[in-house]
Amino acid sequence: MANSAFTPIPALKGQDILTVSQFKPELLSYVFNLTDDMRAMMADRGGSDLLAGRVMAALFYEPSTRTSASFIAAMARLGGGVIPITQGVQFSSVAKGESLPDTVRTLEQYADVIVLRHPEVGSAKVAAAAARVPLINAGDGAGEHPTQALLDLYTIKNELGALDGLHVAMVGDLRFGRTVHSLTRLLAQFKVRLTFVSPEILRLPLDLMNEIRDGGTPVRETYSVADAINDADVLYVTRVQKERFTDLEQYEQVKGFYTIDPAQMQHAKQRMIVMHPLPRVTEIDPAVDDDSRAAYFRQMQNGMFVRMAVLAAVLGAV
Ligand code: NCD
Repeated sequence: MANSAFTPIPALKGQDILTVSQFKPELLSYVFNLTDDMRAMMADRGGSDLLAGRVMAALFYEPSTRTSASFIAAMARLGGGVIPITQGVQFSSVAKGESLPDTVRTLEQYADVIVLRHPEVGSAKVAAAAARVPLINAGDGAGEHPTQALLDLYTIKNELGALDGLHVAMVGDLRFGRTVHSLTRLLAQFKVRLTFVSPEILRLPLDLMNEIRDGGTPVRETYSVADAINDADVLYVTRVQKERFTDLEQYEQVKGFYTIDPAQMQHAKQRMIVMHPLPRVTEIDPAVDDDSRAAYFRQMQNGMFVRMAVLAAVLGAV
């Protein structure tokens, strides 16, 4: 254990982070306490040398702004180094036909932890099996995005105080949206009500729906935002994931299905928040940004604090 004043998380040392199923309420509260420590430390000193001498490889086979930048910033703020393969793997040996396991085996020669984003569901698991260093899933296709769900849950707790008793409405691409899949699984551990708002072809996958229902969480499905917005404590809005459609005509049919605008916000409670993992396309009118209930920029800022906590824990520095 390192000589730090931070909240320790022994359970994550050396672990891969592949799915939110690894995070039970007790571990979540450890992670969130450590996230609070990181936030306070940043306000106080702007950084620390907790991870000095450690190196993180960021291997991104899909576009990213927030996830890659916040992981890299998290490492830098804790005094560590980064191997950034984020500007297109076309500049790495992947373009020469190297396999994912071989790329991972290469990076682990130089890095203590690998952060991977990849278009295929299950790719993080495959890569983790090949790697001896911890691997963090930063999005595997339409599968999961565990650190995003951690920062989403942290944001809800931070903004609204408690999780139990909340009504969370998820809006948009519930079929392909990996952030929705991960957050839904995390929320189902608490006493929440969930409403899923989507057009027919973007409904939550049935196996996930059954998993949540079997676990006892009350769920409802609707096509209409108006049907959920007046009673929601959290409106979690998502982008239609164009890159996952095999039939672009189908995408065209649903791409503009929802736009949250100030007129709709008039029906929402005074004490509620609007979230979005970002990037947004047309799902939230920029005129909503000035509404104090718009939490998506605060949510994005929390991403770095949560990832500082995760990196420190996985690398055994706390
Ligand atoms: C999300 C993702 O990549 O899954 N973005 C993110 O990580 N903040 C959501 C999206 O791309 O729509």
